[in-house]
Amino acid sequence: MPQVPSVNGAALRGPGPIDIALTVNGNAVSARVPPRRTLLDTLRESLGLTGSKRVCDEGTCGACTVIVDDRPVYSCMTLAVACEGKRVETIEGLAKDGELHPVQRAFVDADAFQCGFCTPGQIMSIVALLRATPAPSEADVRRAVAGNLCRCGAYPNIVAAGVSAGRRRK
Ligand code: FES
Ligand code: FES
Repeated sequence: MPQVPSVNGAALRGPGPIDIALTVNGNAVSARVPPRRTLLDTLRESLGLTGSKRVCDEGTCGACTVIVDDRPVYSCMTLAVACEGKRVETIEGLAKDGELHPVQRAFVDADAFQCGFCTPGQIMSIVALLRATPAPSEADVRRAVAGNLCRCGAYPNIVAAGVSAGRRRK
């Protein structure tokens, strides 16, 4: 029987495609991916969840931000295999029963986007912020979205939406 290579008792996988199991938006999902595939590519190309955007693909813009175990991460800089056993949340999982999440509703009400390309990442960063800081100040929101670039310059309304989402959060 061929021996499975291991390091410190953990089996090595690859270099060919590997099967991974993730929890995405509360659902158990699986995918067969190259070991070096990012979480962003896995979400968009293997799982059909295209709400998380790819802009820079190198960890500078934040358009790809998702939440992993309650922390916002750049999914373009995160390996999918590193998310096994963790809770991944994307923009697609926020609305419930046809009702927008309070942060989504606040973005609509505050007119906090123009082209909308940065918006999923901005919203996920603020959703993560509200879990740790339920009633954020303007400074808290600015800090939370400091890694999310908006080329349309919608920052004042994004900050207003974040503060107001804290007030209206269920
Ligand atoms: S696409 Fe991930 S940080 Fe820009
Ligand atoms: S709304 Fe266009 S990049 Fe932010």
